Order: sequence, then C-alpha cells, then structure tokens
Amino acid sequence: MGKQTLSVDIGGSGIKVMVLDEKGMALTERDRRDTPQSPSPSAVINMVKELAATKEFDRVSVGFPGVVRNGITETAANLTPEWINFDLAAALVETLGKPTRVINDADMQGLGAIAGIGVELVVTLGTGFGSALFINGLLVPNLELGHHPFRKGETYEQQLGRAALEQSGKKQWNERLQKAIANLQHLFNFDTLYLGGGNTKFITIELPPLIKVVPNVAGLLGGIALWKD
Ligand code: BGC
Repeated sequence: MGKQTLSVDIGGSGIKVMVLDEKGMALTERDRRDTPQSPSPSAVINMVKELAATKEFDRVSVGFPGVVRNGITETAANLTPEWINFDLAAALVETLGKPTRVINDADMQGLGAIAGIGVELVVTLGTGFGSALFINGLLVPNLELGHHPFRKGETYEQQLGRAALEQSGKKQWNERLQKAIANLQHLFNFDTLYLGGGNTKFITIELPPLIKVVPNVAGLLGGIALWKD
C-alpha cells in the first residue's frame, strides 16, 4: 500500500482531520473537534494529537489560518499571538513523529478544488476570510485579501467574516458578498472563482456560472498536493 497522509485543517471554530491514500482519496471519515477556547499552539497541537491517535498515517499535511512560510506560521488573526513565528511543522514532527508540511488553509483548500486551468481565485468564508490564487494550477502562496480594505473603512474579513455575519445578518452579508465578488472580478479577471468554507451555506445571491461553490471537504482533500514534488 502507498503512503497515507493525515490531512489536518486548523480553523477558527473547528479542527478537522481525515486520512488520504496516495491518490488523495479519503480513507477515513472526516473527524472534527471544536477549536480550543484559547487556541494557543500547545492547545491546538494537543487536539491534533488526540485526533491523530486513532489513525494510521505516514505523513502529515496541515492547512493553517494564517501566513505560512517554510512550516513557520507568521500570522494568525483568529488564533493567539503565540503563533507569530512558530515552527508548526517542527512541532508536529516532534509530536506525531512523521514528516509534516504546513501551508495556508485557503491555499490547501484551493489545491483540493481547482481545475488547474487559467486564473483561478479561491475565497473561503468561515471564521476568517481566506483567499488563494492559482495560475494554470501554480499557487501564488499566502494571498491575504482578507485583511485588505474593502469598503466603509473595513477589510474583507471585517465585512464578511463570521463575526460580521452574526452581527449584520444574512441579508446584509449576502449584499456585501455580491459587492466583494464584483470587486475581485475587476481586480483579478479570474476565469473561475471558487467559494469554500462553512458559511457558503448561507449564500442566497445568484452566482454567475464562472463561480463555483466547493464542498467543505476540499479543505482536507487538498492535503495530498503538498507531497507532489
Ligand atoms: C487569515 C488567512 C486565512 C483566513 C481563513 C484570515 O484571517 O489571515 O491567512 O486563510 O483567515 O482562515
């Protein structure tokens, strides 16, 4: 049997894992726990350790909700400040005893969703506002649209993140989403825009054909792409 990959998606509200086979097909169900109340590196790593304990795997792929460079987490807007410049890859190698690769969560989700044709933009609507850009399947890593100005002196994440959805309600959130899509279309002239993340279930606006909603599991299925080298 080929190598099995434990794919991990660290989110602001949930931590999800699944084991993938060599081709990236799911070998287990998706397992999920609520993100710890205070999501420090040690609390999150302990939770990943617990989720991994019942699974067999040879290597680990992680999607992390912040900028990641060479396995080191550089930002973490929706977690705790201890994540700034934390070597997550090294910490997981030590905890799980397996080779580990870490990338941004939206980048990982995109890798699980894109067709590899033309300019493809991925936006994830969850606790935060994630984004990923691909050109003929090649990733431009760590695109951070979420913290860019969008409208009314606020960023995309402030207007469209989970807190904004809860505060302003679905109707207003959908109106903002429509405006954001139009903005991004003018900026990137993408061939396809993928919308992912848990809050896509609240979308009520009609989406043009070049926009596709991707299932949440793409966040984990993208994990296999980290080992294609
Ligand atoms: C982070 C991104 C992340 C997104 C979704 C944002 O706050 O800055 O890196 O992809 O949330 O989790």
